[in-house]
Amino acid sequence: MKITVVGAGAVGATCADNIARKELAEELVLLDIKEGVAEGKSIDMMQTAALLGFDTKITGSTNDYSKTAGSDVVVITSGLPRKPGMTREELIGTNAGIVRSVTENILKHSPDTIIIVVSNPMDTMNYLTYKTSGLPKHRILGMGGALDSARFKYYLSQQLGCSPADLNAIVIGGHGDTTMIPLIKHATWNSIPVTNFLSQEQQDKIVADTMVGGATLTKLIGTSAWYAPGAGTAAMVESIVRDEKKLISAGVALEGEYGLSDISLVVPVVIGRNGWEKIVDMKLSEEEQASFNKSADAVRNMNDVLKTL
Ligand code: LAC
Repeated sequence: MKITVVGAGAVGATCADNIARKELAEELVLLDIKEGVAEGKSIDMMQTAALLGFDTKITGSTNDYSKTAGSDVVVITSGLPRKPGMTREELIGTNAGIVRSVTENILKHSPDTIIIVVSNPMDTMNYLTYKTSGLPKHRILGMGGALDSARFKYYLSQQLGCSPADLNAIVIGGHGDTTMIPLIKHATWNSIPVTNFLSQEQQDKIVADTMVGGATLTKLIGTSAWYAPGAGTAAMVESIVRDEKKLISAGVALEGEYGLSDISLVVPVVIGRNGWEKIVDMKLSEEEQASFNKSADAVRNMNDVLKTL
């Protein structure tokens, strides 16, 4: 198995670190546009191999895509991260050009790859990759739901005083502060509805905190977060390379599912060796579907901006 992570910034490097520790590939290539950064971070990570005991061979490359040839999975994290006060959507002008060119370069050397898009605004970048790559829709996934659902579980666990690992909770919609939909009515604590234990006020706060989870961290850190984004991406990679068939919410191109078409949004999918293998219908309530449609409108407006670039 060969995996490439494009972008050796904090998210890309953390994703690579998780992939290596879990030994998800024999070969892992880290590529960045900045001279020496990918090489340096790969050597730093390789120097943890003796301590952590993994056998993944990590190499770095400054923009030489021939090194990525034959990758089974490619993670795209390239582009600018958010600064405090910025929305993910404000990054579209710069990041669209970057993601488009990365996709073209990747496909020259790995035409059969599966691509996971992490760059923001993710829903639009994933749609762009789907539209420009010409790859079958099952091989393009956007990372948003894996991260946002983990953040949702964090906030739930804080209120419930329980282990985040005991929670089942999912975020769908868009990966934006106003477009993500943490489905609290569907969330359970080892199959007991969490709503049994939480007041309406507590539920509203958990949902609101989850939606701005990324912005909260950007404000604290001064740039966007990386530990959970890196781990969320690696969890998707793991389900692909080990063919785990995990149910993870991810950005996928919809063709009538959830009543929408010609858009990429986050929905629950089964992820395996072929990419996303199935969209799972959650049977949303009328109110939930209305929120989903509202998120779709916002994401569609953002997708329309692509035409003006
Ligand atoms: C975040 C970025 C990865 O939510 O979108 O932290």
